[in-house]
Amino acid sequence: MTEQEQILSLREQLHKHNYNYYVLNAPAISDKEFDDMMHLLQELEQKHPEMTDANSPTMRVGSDLSKDFKQVQHRYPMLSLGNTYSESELTDFYNRVKELLGNEEFEICCELKFDGTSISLIYENGKLVQAVTRGDGEKGDDVTDNVKTIKTIPLVLHGDYPQSFEIRGEILMPWEVFEELNKEREAKEEPLFANPRNAASGTLKLQNSTIVASRKLDAYLYYLLGDQVPCEGHYENMQKAASWGFKISEHMRKAKNLQDVFDYIKYWDVERKNLPVATDGIVLKVNSLRQQRHLGFTAKSPRWAIAYKFQAEKALTRLNQVTFQVGRTGVITPVANLEPVQLSGTVVKRASLHNADIIEGLDLHIGDMVYVEKGGEIIPKITGVDTDSRGFMLGDKVRFIARCPECGTPLVRFEGEAAHYCPNDAGCPPQIKGKIEHFISRKAMAIDGLGPETVDLFYQIGLVHNVADLYSLKAIDIRGLDRMGDKSAVKIIRGIADSKQVPFERVLFAIGIRFVGETAAKKLAKAFGNIEALGNATKEQLMEVDEIGEKIAQSVVTFFALPANRTLINRLKEAGLQMEKQAEEEVIHSNKLAGLLIVISGLFRHHSREEYKDMIEKHGGKNVGSISSRTSFVLAGENMGPAKLEKAQKLGIKIINEDDFLQMLL
Ligand code: IVH
Repeated sequence: MTEQEQILSLREQLHKHNYNYYVLNAPAISDKEFDDMMHLLQELEQKHPEMTDANSPTMRVGSDLSKDFKQVQHRYPMLSLGNTYSESELTDFYNRVKELLGNEEFEICCELKFDGTSISLIYENGKLVQAVTRGDGEKGDDVTDNVKTIKTIPLVLHGDYPQSFEIRGEILMPWEVFEELNKEREAKEEPLFANPRNAASGTLKLQNSTIVASRKLDAYLYYLLGDQVPCEGHYENMQKAASWGFKISEHMRKAKNLQDVFDYIKYWDVERKNLPVATDGIVLKVNSLRQQRHLGFTAKSPRWAIAYKFQAEKALTRLNQVTFQVGRTGVITPVANLEPVQLSGTVVKRASLHNADIIEGLDLHIGDMVYVEKGGEIIPKITGVDTDSRGFMLGDKVRFIARCPECGTPLVRFEGEAAHYCPNDAGCPPQIKGKIEHFISRKAMAIDGLGPETVDLFYQIGLVHNVADLYSLKAIDIRGLDRMGDKSAVKIIRGIADSKQVPFERVLFAIGIRFVGETAAKKLAKAFGNIEALGNATKEQLMEVDEIGEKIAQSVVTFFALPANRTLINRLKEAGLQMEKQAEEEVIHSNKLAGLLIVISGLFRHHSREEYKDMIEKHGGKNVGSISSRTSFVLAGENMGPAKLEKAQKLGIKIINEDDFLQMLL
């Protein structure tokens, strides 16, 4: 077998294994075998740039190239569905269909209404060529690169698929992924996604498909369109689509009468809670395409389908008290303490009130009967007050506090932000403890043996007031405390000592500058090299760094403007922590590209476009925007623009792929 043939065979096998693993949930080979095949394919593809294929399984990794989305006109407008919450309106729908079909027999396909973000996928000759969001229904965003990272969406089909068709469905973030993502965001004090739907649509619109790939989106397809659909029934078409490689819900059922429909609804209103993804109702579709055509559309939606929405789960209960919590960075979160009430299978005692504006908007009074909802959210929220049940005894109006409940410091609210903060970050107990907990956590300094309870204990007895104090601890200070044996004491002290080797970027993350998460810390460490340079940087200089916006830049400046923070950093430095970025294999500056004019085009895998620009310059070359007869060569990635390709070919200009380019610089 030639290497070219091997590439084709590996691609075919990997597509199949992807399908077995992600769609059928039935892997046929081990993860290791899969990875090995993938690596081999990657290697071979690098050797054979002429074999590049936008739909190769290796393309699922995404690209970190930023770009705005192209707007695309939908071939068939993406309409919405009429919807109802009432069974009697469903009966009306059913009877209307019956009447319009002149009492002809008909079947209704019942399916789950997935609560994500809708997508239209275009396939030509068995390959995914375009993925477009709903947009305004007429035009949507071309999010093909992002969608290609979703493992349950086939890039290449198998079986007897039509040459050209469109298939629509829903992109979803599974509950588990959503909860994990929010946990990470909470740790970074980034705004949480309210529900998996927002998280899915937010993710799909990200400019960096590498991040999209990491978010583990899923997709169900539910509507096939085109001139050559294989079957006369919608249900049958979906089964066909499943055989080509699509993920189709296994819970679709054909109903012969209204009773079947109600049974389906009744079952799923309860059972949906056990599904891995969010659903918000049931969709009913007349199954026969001929009958669908006969029924047609209104201006907004098909007459042959309707959505029945489940009631958002709601409960009425008493508001007993509002408390205010102080987070690691001083954010104040108001929490409603409720008379315990049963809601979607759990007992709810507390609900978030988010911020002062929300409290004001609800006009809350202590003792009010309030509506609590869970809907798509995991954190229950208060959506309204039952003012009728107030009577004569109106409780105190709930007001946002003016001082920190923990340390009494007057709160501040920054312009344009909804949250209130306690600015006393060096003296406010939960902030101090929270900062230490963050500092020792796995992704920060990863100090073994220390956990929140130990931190709390050390703080309570006055051993540790800030993270720098950790480095003065001795085994003798902590041995014997609260059943702490010699072994644990030694382990903690060793863990603390070991943390002095943690690289600068993680130290920077560990320090806990507001809004500086792991990525920002990496970028800042790389750009400034050491803590002094970072501390002296102006807001403008900070904003010149890739991915550092005004919010982060301002926060860094504010942090270093505080003498207490500078003292802390100095103490950490004296303790021996890494405050300087270790030299990486620096790009050796050379003249290898001296005098060359190089055009960059397409999507890259190993480095970003910015990094390639940088390399060109460091090696004496010049990056130019457009191809002319003077261009030395084009550095081409995946999906190089067709106009550029044509021009380069016409002028006989060499096209070099990224691997060969990197080779040139060695
Ligand atoms: S069929 C013309 N089926 O609900 C019919 N839609 O307002 C096209 N949805 O935008 C839609 N699950 O995003 C259909 N099983 C399902 C669905 C579904 C969720 C979404 C879809 C659409 C909205 C309807």
